[in-house]
Amino acid sequence: MHQQDRDVTADLSLLKWYRDMGVDETVQDEPVNRFRPAGDTHDTPANRSQAPQPDRRSTPPPKGLKVEEQKDSVASAKEIAARCQTLDELKHAITSFSGCPLSQTATNTVFADGNPAAPIMFVGEAPGRDEDIQGLPFVGAAGQLLDKMLGAIGRDRSNVYISNIINWRPPGNRTPTANEALTCLPFIKRHIFLAKPKVLVLLGGTAAKHLLQTNTGIMRLRGTWTEVMLDDYGEQTIPALPTLHPAYLLRQPAHKRLAWQDFLALDEHLREIEQATAED
Ligand code: URA
Repeated sequence: MHQQDRDVTADLSLLKWYRDMGVDETVQDEPVNRFRPAGDTHDTPANRSQAPQPDRRSTPPPKGLKVEEQKDSVASAKEIAARCQTLDELKHAITSFSGCPLSQTATNTVFADGNPAAPIMFVGEAPGRDEDIQGLPFVGAAGQLLDKMLGAIGRDRSNVYISNIINWRPPGNRTPTANEALTCLPFIKRHIFLAKPKVLVLLGGTAAKHLLQTNTGIMRLRGTWTEVMLDDYGEQTIPALPTLHPAYLLRQPAHKRLAWQDFLALDEHLREIEQATAED
């Protein structure tokens, strides 16, 4: 076998190994040598590749946004959101919005899935890889777990509505920054206002933090009913139950029992609402 063929075979088997290990995208063009001793700054070929490489696909860090630009984005998101009178208008407005840098790296805008007339609306964090590809929230592994959790209380996507705090996938599935959340917040608030759910379920710390405006962790918030204030749209508040994010439950299956307690409380609350509506 020629050297070139051997190189290609080695490259292919390395790629196959990466794929089998679950690597589904590259974050940097060059590998990081984590065995390099701290402080070794010699200009060797191996060290040269350690120089921080710009991630060409990622957005400029929002930290780099000038304060004025950030203010402009939030103000313009608020203004645009407030003008939308229907969910279709809002979907269209978000899809055309360019004030959040995440929209530049995303494949699709992810708006919502399920039944917008449902009494219950779930709000997650941000689209992941599968959601970005399909343009729908919670369609990957976390979404499949969410479907199972819904099934356990006799529900599915025909009688719940699902969206996220952020409408575009953060590169590499990182947690959205505070600035990104701030920019997208007017959209999800208007989204909730227009969908008018009777109950909100906040899936995970990011949804709880931004919709409840709190720094209290999700472990302390979960399972206790609270209220989301849609401040820009009158005095309106919506009952909300923070719970654990399905992606977290995939990593910490022992905590599924906590989520199960929350879903039972949710089921009870929904039954009361449905009974009261039937009696009206
Ligand atoms: N995680 C989320 O928070 N939202 C999604 O849509 C998918 C995964």
